[in-house]
Amino acid sequence: MQDLDREGITAEVIAQMATTPDPRLRQVMDAAVRHLHAFAREVELKPEEWLQGIAFLTAVGQACTPHRQEFILLSDVLGLSRLVNVMHDATGREEAATETSLLGPFFREKAPEFAPGESIAVHEKTGEEVILFGQVLDASGMPVPGAEIDIWQTSGLGLYDLQAADASVMDHRGRFRADAEGRFHMRTVKPIGYSIPMDGPVGPLVKNQGRHGMRPAHIHLLVAAPGYRELITALYLSDDPNIDSDTVFGVSQSLVVTPAMGVPGAPRTDIPAIRYDFRLSRRAAGETGGRVGADPSQITKAAE
Ligand code: BEZ
Ligand code: FE
Repeated sequence: MQDLDREGITAEVIAQMATTPDPRLRQVMDAAVRHLHAFAREVELKPEEWLQGIAFLTAVGQACTPHRQEFILLSDVLGLSRLVNVMHDATGREEAATETSLLGPFFREKAPEFAPGESIAVHEKTGEEVILFGQVLDASGMPVPGAEIDIWQTSGLGLYDLQAADASVMDHRGRFRADAEGRFHMRTVKPIGYSIPMDGPVGPLVKNQGRHGMRPAHIHLLVAAPGYRELITALYLSDDPNIDSDTVFGVSQSLVVTPAMGVPGAPRTDIPAIRYDFRLSRRAAGETGGRVGADPSQITKAAE
């Protein structure tokens, strides 16, 4: 029997967990314990702070419902979701593929289907109309025919349909099919920036850190075609005041866009347009999906 001092406890826990048969579980838990103990030593964690941390995580768990995932929100505001995305993108990704961005909590399966050129602002039409058009390409620049493009965003009032009075009505979201040359064309209204959900335990944490809690205006997209890695990304509007301080770290330079008049090739010339070509990466053999920030209801289903 060894007396466990502030260093010895770590080695003792790792020694006891060495019987873990699954090597990946052993590796992950070893690292988790080493880093957790190092963190407690670094900040000289006090018992009352430990208890406060337990109470916070308990509240995060209690805020989760089949339609709300407060733990993912916590992961988002701590930059963990972005880090996992960045690392995943770097595995087996061809150089030229479009960068990914967070799926977020407002994705819905089976959004309404639209014909090319139709507008996804069907019920709430407030806001400046814009066209989004372009081509779906592979990493070498060859067209990917018939890709399915899911698009979803806030209305021009800054709310997702799921946050509206009647959340059963789908609006500002839809599915489009690219043509045989990978070309697509859709209409929407300019989204505006909005606050992440601040009414759970993550909200006060963000406020206590002096952060604004806002996301810059963006349009979410999910582009899928057989044989290619599903692309989950978003386009961010350059004129948003919070473009450089997204609370959930979703913005990359390559995803920032500016609607403009006179964009070459725009299918309509009377409203501003965004041209964006999406480049898909081939799916590696045996690779499965893996969405960071997935729809909480899907997570619930997967866990059942
Ligand atoms: C969003 O893009 O809608 C979002 C992403 C992460 C956290 C909250 C909202
Ligand atoms: Fe969003």
